[in-house]
Amino acid sequence: MNIGIIGCGNISPIYFKNFARFGLKVAACADVFMSAAEKRGAEYNVPAVTVDQLLADPSIGLVLNITVPAAHGDVALQALSAGKHVYNEKPLALTRDQAKQMLALATSKNLRVGCAPDTFLGAGLQTCRRLIDEGAIGRPVAATAFMLGHGPEGWHPNPEFFYKIGAGPMFDMGPYYLTALVNLLGPVKRVTGSAQISFAERTIGSEPKKGQKIVVETPTHVVGVLDFAQGTVATLITSFDIWGHNLPRIEIYGSEGSLSCPDPNTFGGPIQIRKWNEKNWEDVPLDPGHIVDSRGLGPRDLIQAVADNRAHRASGALAYHVLDLMHAVHDASREGRHITLESTCDRPAKFTD
Ligand SMILES: NC(=O)c1ccc[n+]([C@@H]2O[C@H](COP(=O)([O-])OP(=O)(O)OC[C@H]3O[C@@H](n4cnc5c(N)ncnc54)[C@H](O)[C@@H]3O)[C@@H](O)[C@H]2O)c1
Repeated sequence: MNIGIIGCGNISPIYFKNFARFGLKVAACADVFMSAAEKRGAEYNVPAVTVDQLLADPSIGLVLNITVPAAHGDVALQALSAGKHVYNEKPLALTRDQAKQMLALATSKNLRVGCAPDTFLGAGLQTCRRLIDEGAIGRPVAATAFMLGHGPEGWHPNPEFFYKIGAGPMFDMGPYYLTALVNLLGPVKRVTGSAQISFAERTIGSEPKKGQKIVVETPTHVVGVLDFAQGTVATLITSFDIWGHNLPRIEIYGSEGSLSCPDPNTFGGPIQIRKWNEKNWEDVPLDPGHIVDSRGLGPRDLIQAVADNRAHRASGALAYHVLDLMHAVHDASREGRHITLESTCDRPAKFTD
């Protein structure tokens, strides 16, 4: 099955490179700006075409949709309408309704929807998954996940969108943390949370817009409490309001020990475990697998899953559950209550590759 790439921006090179590494053919690339498609097309020896031409190409079976978040929904619907499977960058869509429409259209046309992140398929988080499944820390009782920083306006050339609806730290970075947690612990049944805009305005520190102000329109400090269906209670903080901290990325606390998991925006380690009867943390070697940036494993698994007639791992259902979770934390804060989630998903099958 050939791939067509729509969206030829900053993140696209790693996908072009990894698809070549995986032996997958990219038949065409497109962008709303033809010059962007032509630039990447020339770099990776792929024909640059318009979006309409790409969608009309019968040799393309899967569209990799790596446009900006605001376009994820529309481009995916266009791709599905054209009879293509689709794999989106995160988040799946901006709204639950748009994501539901996407999944319903795919089901009605017997097509697949996949979604980033696929970092949970890396050797790091797969080793954590094996340890939990084998009972290395006993029954997972609690978990913490922290993505704390002071936002991207100090280095990103075009940082306004991070502070508008559909972004903020939760929708931008939350998918890595939540997908990792759902892969490790299964689906979530109930959430609550608090979210605030700590600073009404941000000042861009990077060129070319240095000194310009950004009006903040979405919460930048978002705290969630997640009750997993199997009983674990997790605390998640995503923030663009923190200058420095000493908190871990993800830790899982079990009845017989604790597990320190890697940065879920990476494919490798490190991993440490501390058993109940040990005084120190011990390093855990990674299982064989992908440790370098292997973005593209998710679409590769989707293509193989179609051929094998099995479920793919970085699925639309998983991404929908994560999107629902992120909205629910914000809704809970606004409404001052716990929210029982309507969505759920299966834990993706263990990945050995
Ligand atoms: N940059 C990163 O480090 C990074 C990492 C992981 C995930 N992502 C995700 O990948 C996606 C793309 O990020 P990016 O950094 O490459 O952004 P970008 O702005 O550099 O590139 C996006 C490209 O999509 C094109 N585009 C926008 N709307 C379109 C439409 N309707 N049809 C066709 N093309 C359209 C834009 O012209 C642009 O070239 C985002 O969802 C982002 O969250 C980015």
